[in-house]
Amino acid sequence: MSNLKRNHYCGTLGKADNEKEVVLCGWVAKRRDHGGLIFVDLRDRSGIVQVVVDPDHAGSDFATAEAIRSEYVIKVHGVVRLRSEETVNPNLATGEVEVVAKELEVLNSAKTPPFYIQDGIDVDENLRLRYRYLDLRRPEMQRNLMLRHKVTKLMRDYMDNHDFCEIETPMLTKSTPEGARDYLVPSRVNPGKFYALPQSPQIFKQLLMVAGMERYFQIVRCFRDEDLRADRQPEFTQLDIEMSFVDADDIMDMTEGLIRHVFKGALGVDLPEKFQRMTWDEAMDKYGSDKPDLRFGMELINMTEAVKGSEFKVFNDIINKGGIVKAINVKGYAAIPRRELDGLVDFVGIYGAKGLAWMQIQPDGSVKSPIAKFFTEDYLANILKTGAAEPGDLLLFVADKPAVVAAALGALRIEMAKRRGLIDENKLAFTWVVDFPMFEYSEEEKRYVAMHHPFTSPREEDIPLLATDPGKVYAKAYDMVLNGTEIGGGSIRIHRRDVQDAVFHAIGLSEEQAQEKFGFMMGAFEFGAPPHGGLAFGLDRLVMIMAKRDSIRDVIAFPKTQSASDLMCQAPNDVEEKQLRELHIRTVLVKK
Ligand code: AMO
Ligand code: AMP
Repeated sequence: MSNLKRNHYCGTLGKADNEKEVVLCGWVAKRRDHGGLIFVDLRDRSGIVQVVVDPDHAGSDFATAEAIRSEYVIKVHGVVRLRSEETVNPNLATGEVEVVAKELEVLNSAKTPPFYIQDGIDVDENLRLRYRYLDLRRPEMQRNLMLRHKVTKLMRDYMDNHDFCEIETPMLTKSTPEGARDYLVPSRVNPGKFYALPQSPQIFKQLLMVAGMERYFQIVRCFRDEDLRADRQPEFTQLDIEMSFVDADDIMDMTEGLIRHVFKGALGVDLPEKFQRMTWDEAMDKYGSDKPDLRFGMELINMTEAVKGSEFKVFNDIINKGGIVKAINVKGYAAIPRRELDGLVDFVGIYGAKGLAWMQIQPDGSVKSPIAKFFTEDYLANILKTGAAEPGDLLLFVADKPAVVAAALGALRIEMAKRRGLIDENKLAFTWVVDFPMFEYSEEEKRYVAMHHPFTSPREEDIPLLATDPGKVYAKAYDMVLNGTEIGGGSIRIHRRDVQDAVFHAIGLSEEQAQEKFGFMMGAFEFGAPPHGGLAFGLDRLVMIMAKRDSIRDVIAFPKTQSASDLMCQAPNDVEEKQLRELHIRTVLVKK
């Protein structure tokens, strides 16, 4: 037996293998003892097959089978046979056959795992993360990792076929402007100095265009010290792309082709020849979000005109101060319980809305609402018409500054769609969001900040506005959105020095600060920078959606928790005094 090498994978066996001699290796998924007969579900990466052990065929190895437990590592030598009709297992890919063991060897024993090694377990994620190597032994997690592998392979093939060259850029580098905090690495040989881990290879890929590489890509780790959510990790992977002598359409067309190639190759899914495009203004207006989920409708309806000048002071005051009133129509949900309505008020509060008003359209067409009394019949009729509201519908209103209305109603739209079961999990709704504003005003910093990054090119026609009215400048920037998640984003870059200076000026960077931060880049641009642009996909997010998961942690082998720690290897951790001294660092913990 010890001379025999594995020659088949468990999950691949089928009818065609009938009567074949096979040697299998794997883990014991389950062992069932039927007195004189032992059944072992044997698992390897390819799947599970049933092994039957009886004393007639296995001889003295029957005793070995009696001793094995779940997750023991074993080797089985046996013969494939067809199962009788009544014992066929339709839930198992290999369910038409079983392997009759002739020999069986325990390669290693195993402790009882802290959770079942099977799909769909309901276990605290922290426990899964602590024993990630066991969690990853579960078939669904292995499928996720293999899907990820397939996706990156398809990406590399596509990029290679389109003349892109994969080039590595440094991990120990200088701060890059993607808007998050940097992870810093102290330098031992340069006392008191720090590297920053890259938030993206943005500057390097642009310098590669100056270098004349023309078409660059990289599947690359990026580091961002930001507040974590289900679709954010402190280190994550991008498919990063940059091209020279192109416009935004060229990049969007090329990357649409890439995504079509990936979905076809990995999932066998045909995506549309052309992805929808919508401007940022339209996305914010109709969906209250720059990453609209287009798997369902329920668009935001502007009610400002319809409610203006009524007796309802709350709305009038807000409108007079430059605010707006918008609503969503939750079809067929007029019978919503009062308690749920009160909960919705709290829900929009999270997004800064100071209130939520509602109208429940009764079967007879009348309106049940705490604010109905402020509106005449004519007003009500016009509100219902504007909202396309029919008997049985529920209108939910938020009045506030446009940004607050968008955030609150945009989130409420998604929440109500979830509650009403309107989201078809099998749909893939792609859209480009284009023409982003170049800047957004930061109340915190009391200045404009770049919405993408400060190397993004403004639209030609908006360049004069940089000096006079930065808030009105739109950028040649585009995001690819899938099912309400931003899976990629990029832009055409600035390649003219005067435009770059104007942008730095608009975000309040003095010439010295710009020189200090990006001087090397500005210098490079004086040696013949070609027009260029690019985009980066969030690989983890893309694979998460392809695998129909809700968290990117499920498609990352060793992810971190919400508090950015690795529960398995206990990182981050304390280091020895000596190591700190070498790095010229002293830590002083400030007690809160
Ligand atoms: P951006 O910052 O939009 O652009 O990032 C590109 C894509 O990366 C993904 N992403 C993340 N995924 C997981 N965890 C995170 N913390 C995280 N942050 C971002 C998103 C996003 O769309 N240099 C530019 C690209 C360019 O202009 O070419 C950039 O990094 O899916
Ligand atoms: P009030 O007159 O303040 O009691 O408000 C009457 C109704 O209007 C209540 O149902 C409030 O929740 C709602 N309301 C108050 N402020 C807003 C707002 N900014 N947007 C939408 N509804 C609001």
